[in-house]
Amino acid sequence: MKKHGFADVIVGLDYGDEGKGRITDEQLSTGNYAVAARFNGGNNAGHTITAPGGEKLILNAIPSGVLHEGMVNYIGSGCVVDPVHLRRVEIPRVEKVKKLDGNLKISAWATAITPLHILADRLGDKMIGTTGKGIGPAYAARVKRADGDVIQNLRLGDILANTDQAADLLKKHYMELARRMEHKEQLDYHAISDQILEFIDAVEYLQKRGFIEHDLLWLTDQVEQGQNVLMEGAQAYGLDVGAGIVPFTTSSHTIAGNAYVGGDLSAKFHRKIMGVAKLITSRVGSGPFVGEYGGARSEAYCAEKDEHGRTKFTRDFERDNYDVDSMLRAEDPFKFGIGLRIKTAEYGATTGRPRRLGAIDTYRLGRAARHSGVDELYLTKFDDLQHFKDASLFDGKLPVIGSYAINGNRINYLPINSTELTKVEPVYSHLPLPEDIRHLDKKEQLPENARSFVEIIQHETRAKVVGLGTGPERGQMHYL
Ligand code: IMP
Repeated sequence: MKKHGFADVIVGLDYGDEGKGRITDEQLSTGNYAVAARFNGGNNAGHTITAPGGEKLILNAIPSGVLHEGMVNYIGSGCVVDPVHLRRVEIPRVEKVKKLDGNLKISAWATAITPLHILADRLGDKMIGTTGKGIGPAYAARVKRADGDVIQNLRLGDILANTDQAADLLKKHYMELARRMEHKEQLDYHAISDQILEFIDAVEYLQKRGFIEHDLLWLTDQVEQGQNVLMEGAQAYGLDVGAGIVPFTTSSHTIAGNAYVGGDLSAKFHRKIMGVAKLITSRVGSGPFVGEYGGARSEAYCAEKDEHGRTKFTRDFERDNYDVDSMLRAEDPFKFGIGLRIKTAEYGATTGRPRRLGAIDTYRLGRAARHSGVDELYLTKFDDLQHFKDASLFDGKLPVIGSYAINGNRINYLPINSTELTKVEPVYSHLPLPEDIRHLDKKEQLPENARSFVEIIQHETRAKVVGLGTGPERGQMHYL
């Protein structure tokens, strides 16, 4: 019998935006993998990869292996798929660089994000600060299955099996949404009818292009035949629908174990788990964030909108209105946070939203890594720690959260909800700043402070730190 292949999994350990896309891209360049697979989420993700010509390509739903010659990119049944987005936005964007044909496969068993899910997400979210891509309503429809005698869960294959029935169901979903809406004027029936037609058309387009994979064992066949697969997680541990803080999560399981459910492969082929954490810890959207520079003030500031409902404090605004060096030197953590954001360019890749920034939290990171079972850990933005040199607030040291306390007593669990989390007093250590290692040869021994920092992280995560990011470009990585 032929020797079978293996699967590796890569996941984010913070709140998204750790730089996973780039690590994934580097892994895929090793030639070890024939398939890149997504197992959770949808086009709420933003993975930036670099095309061979050097230009940046932002991927949302399509796996990061798309520019690698001969690699197949598989979107598993655990994802939710917006066919209109794929047809109108993402496929054309990718095809400017590379033609997609046999190299994109989307499971027919994945639930479709319909125009009504997008509408429900945009009109309905008052707390979470979702990406507005219909992710939550689509996953809700999947697990709800049916409402009375109206089927809710429409998978791509269900739609293709009977497009008339799917269109009828979508009209019923519209009536249901209209019944529940406070502001019915926001629902334009004619516009929705057109969107339903466009939606069905887009599913048929994906089928005609040969992108829909009807066989749930397609990936199993590949691996049984000796191919290796890299399972690429979207979002991150802090947003896991089960392990995150309700309601401030995404709607899928982001933890590594879900790769084998959402990615349509048996766990018997598992080899190793890679985790990615960013040393400039960030979070977008709402939700508790222990150690946030400027606390609630920063959360409110980052969420502020202008009179047109657009993000107020964008990258351009902050760059043009603040003196970054004096912000970094400010004694006020809120101002320090702004300075650090400008220096480290922590803004949403597609939305331009300012990301909330906070201290490195080895307590939370350790638990995230252990829960996912990370073997190998990449720490991105190691070079950006140098900005702490100028921070008067910390005397040039690096603030790191090592444990949590409530009422002065250390706790050894992660609180389950916001009420309890707001009581958490982070316990900080101020470490000697790790040295700048950008000038080191890629495999040279780390200097003392950097080494002891890495040891602390290894101790907390039980994982081996294998790479330190020293810049945004491909190859700017110090390997250990
Ligand atoms: P949803 O996934 O659009 O429902 O959004 C739920 C929460 O997850 C919001 O706080 C989003 O900002 C966050 N989120 C979703 N996808 C990403 C991502 O790829 N990176 C960072 N945050 C994300």
